[in-house]
Amino acid sequence: MTTIYFDNAATSWPKPEGVRAALIDYFGDAGGNPGRSGHRMSIAAARIVENAREALAELFHANDSSRIVFSHNATHALNLALYGVLQPDDHVVTTSVEHNSVMRPLRHLETLGVELTVVDCTPDGMLNINDVRSALRFDTRLLVTTHASNVMGTLMPVGELAALARERRILYLVDASQTAGAIPIDVQGIGLDLLAFTGHKGLLGPTGTGGLYIREGVTLIPLIRGGTGSESAKETQPEFLPDLHESGTLNVAGIAGLAAGLRFLSEIGVEAVEVHERNLVAEFLAGASEISGITLYGPKDPARQCGVVSFNVAGAVPSEVGSILDQSFGVMARTGLHCSPAAHRTLGTYPTGTVRFSFGWFNTTAEVDRALKALREIAAWASSGATVSARGNI
Ligand SMILES: Cc1ncc(COP(=O)(O)O)c(C=O)c1O
Repeated sequence: MTTIYFDNAATSWPKPEGVRAALIDYFGDAGGNPGRSGHRMSIAAARIVENAREALAELFHANDSSRIVFSHNATHALNLALYGVLQPDDHVVTTSVEHNSVMRPLRHLETLGVELTVVDCTPDGMLNINDVRSALRFDTRLLVTTHASNVMGTLMPVGELAALARERRILYLVDASQTAGAIPIDVQGIGLDLLAFTGHKGLLGPTGTGGLYIREGVTLIPLIRGGTGSESAKETQPEFLPDLHESGTLNVAGIAGLAAGLRFLSEIGVEAVEVHERNLVAEFLAGASEISGITLYGPKDPARQCGVVSFNVAGAVPSEVGSILDQSFGVMARTGLHCSPAAHRTLGTYPTGTVRFSFGWFNTTAEVDRALKALREIAAWASSGATVSARGNI
């Protein structure tokens, strides 16, 4: 049985061939510590890091690559931004479909005296900009939203939100975990202050990579302090970017792989990825909406979501559907709450959650059709009231 990987929202798979080659090359030819020494392997490592930084700046249309800071993942980047901006008595506004990588730091910051308002989205995950406008206060310091929900794919109106934040002189942080590399992002065109991204999903790099774009004029208090290889005579943190936020040795092997992922993306074009994933979503939604017993969540409109879809099968819990898909049909999906209990409360699917398919560049419509065929069988079984063990043999 050939397998189908529909869990690209967790991490993309497969990675382009060049990613594996870049990791091997790094360990072979450039295994030094970037910016720490003057020898050739340290310089080669520094070149890898700076080339990757420039590729990211180009991808996101940032005109100064030093405004891109590397992190371990999107969670780390979001923490850099949230703890870097928010102080006790500040007010912050977010939405009810955020990932726990936003919610958990915000709930912790609440215990330190930050005031939080969570704006409710509609049951299909859409955000009403007027609700955000009403939530803003004179002391609101930050607005933070995802670019696209990791549960049902809903795209947020980031352009309108950025305009609103600018008008009210509030910083706007976007969590682009699900969109970087899958949907074109122009930080200057949109007018974003902060953009957190991960390297191992749409950017097609290895795990352990990510970063934060910080607009010129925005200053963050560093989350950690330590060695940077620069200003070594001083016992205080360098004040310039990216060093201010890059203490400790970077994941250079991972960044080498990320650079290869970015090269692959620039060859195919993020616009092409967007169109491809939209076609897969359209194919899935058209097929799934005709299967009796399947409930679809989210906008149910390929133009208003990224390559993520969520659904349930009547008569079966999501975890059960996930294991049947994997064991009997070779389809790998993610089930449950997807680190986003707030989104599932919004959808009305808390606490059991949903089954999520998340598509990537390497998926095909033939794979979507095979998964739909599997879902037709599973839905028929579930509606027949068969026992779990009997379903295990599908
Ligand atoms: C919307 C969203 N935010 C944040 C994250 C965290 O990403 P990472 O695992 O790279 O920290 C994810 C990952 O699933 C996500 O989907």
